[in-house]
Amino acid sequence: MNVLAIETSCDETAVAVVRREQGRNRVLVDIVHSQAMHARFGGVVPELASRAHAEQMVPTVRAALAEAGLERPDVVATTAGPGLIGAVLVGLSFGKSAALGWGVPFYGVNHLEGHLLSALLEDPAPAFPFLSLVVSGGHTTLYEARAVGDYRALCQTTDDAVGEAFDKVARMLGLGYPGGPRVEALARAGNPKAVVFPHPRPAGRPMDLSFSGLKTAVRTWIERHPETPPEDVAASFQDTVARYLVDRVEQGVALTGCRRIAIGGGAAANTRLREALVATGLDVYLPPKRRCTDNAAMIGNVAALRLAAGAPPWTLDCTARARWEVGP
Ligand code: KG4
Ligand code: ZN
Repeated sequence: MNVLAIETSCDETAVAVVRREQGRNRVLVDIVHSQAMHARFGGVVPELASRAHAEQMVPTVRAALAEAGLERPDVVATTAGPGLIGAVLVGLSFGKSAALGWGVPFYGVNHLEGHLLSALLEDPAPAFPFLSLVVSGGHTTLYEARAVGDYRALCQTTDDAVGEAFDKVARMLGLGYPGGPRVEALARAGNPKAVVFPHPRPAGRPMDLSFSGLKTAVRTWIERHPETPPEDVAASFQDTVARYLVDRVEQGVALTGCRRIAIGGGAAANTRLREALVATGLDVYLPPKRRCTDNAAMIGNVAALRLAAGAPPWTLDCTARARWEVGP
């Protein structure tokens, strides 16, 4: 079974072909066009993102099919949310039309489930049940994944997501967009112990996740201590985030007894976080960095897993959603 997968929920136009054979999913083609034009605005401009998706869609799908040596796929899978609604609509409308034209089943995929199950594309892959830490630009959640479609959120951010915190700190340090990779690059030259930021653990609610307090602490520090080298601020912030997330993962392990932990989402590309997770000695599954940031292979992966597990394809009235919790 060859799945043509399309992802346009934010500022990446991504198309992949994922083949399911002998009980495993294999990525045949993985194209990601990142939209560089948002950099000068300091963040993603939704209208520009949608326009660029519309321009890129047909040529990128053609290129993906040609690279896979396919005239048409057996299934079309597209991100149906959550994300920027105009951006999601470009990929979703195209995907549904293409499936209808080819006469093949269509599957609408939750973007977060894509990140949640990314580690299953790798070899070795975690066996169920496993914990999955999804750290993206808009979401930060630690899930317990019991089976395909059976997830329990153990803790979830109530304010800023990890990627968002990186983006905001990048702005405070004048680094521009995208923030995460720039903070990480600057932090390489800094001392992670230079500034002691408060470990953000809301009193009495130990399984909460929150990053707005840390973000404010960074802002206040920069205002009061402008002489601190920016690389030290970046390294100390990054280190605090990594230790905080590891703390939550360890609590998740204590709560569930499950020692297998996978990660996904853009901030999972952060080397400090990856090292901190490995250092726990838990059974850690880290997808390659290009599969942590937005891509379509993870969307094809979910569709192939769900269809293999017996889920019926979605009908064409599957709608685009700006918000969508991961569910059954
Ligand atoms: O998953 P993703 O590509 O898009 C969303 O679904 O949101 O995540 C994007 C987020 C951005 O906030 C970006 O700053 C962050 O991931 N990010 C990173 C790194 N690479 C991307 N954060 C920290 N370190 C990185 N290396
Ligand atoms: Zn994402």
